[in-house]
Amino acid sequence: MANRREMLLNAPTLDTDAWAAAGEALLADAVALRRAIHAEPELGLDLPATTAKVKAALAGLPLEIREGPSTSGVVAILRGPANGRTVLLRGDMDALPLTEDTGLAFASTSPGAMHACGHDTHTAMLAGAARALCERRDGLAGTVMFMFQPGEEGWHGARFMLEDGLIDPLPHAAFALHISPNMPAGVFAGRTGPLLASSDKLRIKVTGRGGHASMPHDALDPIPVLCEIVGALQALVTRRISVFDPVVITIARVEAGSTDNVIPEDGRLWGTLRTLSERARDAAQEGIRRIAEHIAAAHGAGAEVEIERGFPVTVCDGRVVDLAERAATALFGEGAWTTMAHPMMGAEDFAYVLQKVPGAMAFLGAAPEGGDFRTCCALHSNRMTLDESVMARGIAMHCAMAEAMLGGGLEL
Ligand code: NI
Repeated sequence: MANRREMLLNAPTLDTDAWAAAGEALLADAVALRRAIHAEPELGLDLPATTAKVKAALAGLPLEIREGPSTSGVVAILRGPANGRTVLLRGDMDALPLTEDTGLAFASTSPGAMHACGHDTHTAMLAGAARALCERRDGLAGTVMFMFQPGEEGWHGARFMLEDGLIDPLPHAAFALHISPNMPAGVFAGRTGPLLASSDKLRIKVTGRGGHASMPHDALDPIPVLCEIVGALQALVTRRISVFDPVVITIARVEAGSTDNVIPEDGRLWGTLRTLSERARDAAQEGIRRIAEHIAAAHGAGAEVEIERGFPVTVCDGRVVDLAERAATALFGEGAWTTMAHPMMGAEDFAYVLQKVPGAMAFLGAAPEGGDFRTCCALHSNRMTLDESVMARGIAMHCAMAEAMLGGGLEL
């Protein structure tokens, strides 16, 4: 990293003033699009109303539109005059299944659905960046793919879009933004290596033999077995997994029994497994099965363990993270970038793209005006609100990152 400082000092190869101005000029449109999407949230892989709004926002721009059979996702492709690299910018489009309680004038009109993870802003920023980059197409050193993806909230939308061939041939580099109400407004943050965790769902069923609660010896009570498994899983984390390769196992739901005087036939545990490496993930999965099955067997009961593989670890390429730091500081000054000391154990569908393409995701602080970023409502809260003005910075950052990834700043 000897030349990293030099790279940072050489940042003005980017046309940062133009991108910052473009972000400001397109902010009103981005706010309008964000609010329209926010008012009509959709869940999952098929988001017809959201996709229609995105297409309307892109109408008339010199973009090739690609769509696939598996989702309502859209990839819009902008080809510059030069036959250079291809880079990808991504925004997710789906909402969460919860009922909004913000009182905003443009609040969700669909009970049970809300943009509580900021994907409405991600989509609006990406549409703004598409417009800004189209306006400066003549200066583009290659091709930009704008990936508008549904199904980020556990639906594997990015994986389906990759499988549908919408991102072929694979781009040379990729970048995404995620808004955060728990960071100061307008500040970007990221890190090299693991940024977010893998996420797998656990379901463990223990089967005993039901009977009268007063005569447990005539039954086979699954409840103490469930309890022992819950405790042993925490010992697995601390005794069998390296402390330098962190794992989180949380049993978040326990279910057994119906009343006070009946021993139930069976019981169930639900939980989540988070890791920062495939190695720890494999070790934890194997350990969970071993512990559940053998503790049950030790008591003469049976255990069925289901592990549903979710998103892989989101790993950021140091070269693209460096570009993001350069771009953020060139655009908005020294205080505009924070290097995160450690990853977060949340998970992200963009991980599938980053498994195939060197790239990075960065967070963009969006604490609501007048609120304290440390205590304001977090992502996935039904009272989460944002400072929309930071979308100007997000648009500029996307544009600068496209230019930087296309240009000489990134050695691939
Ligand atoms: Ni999200």
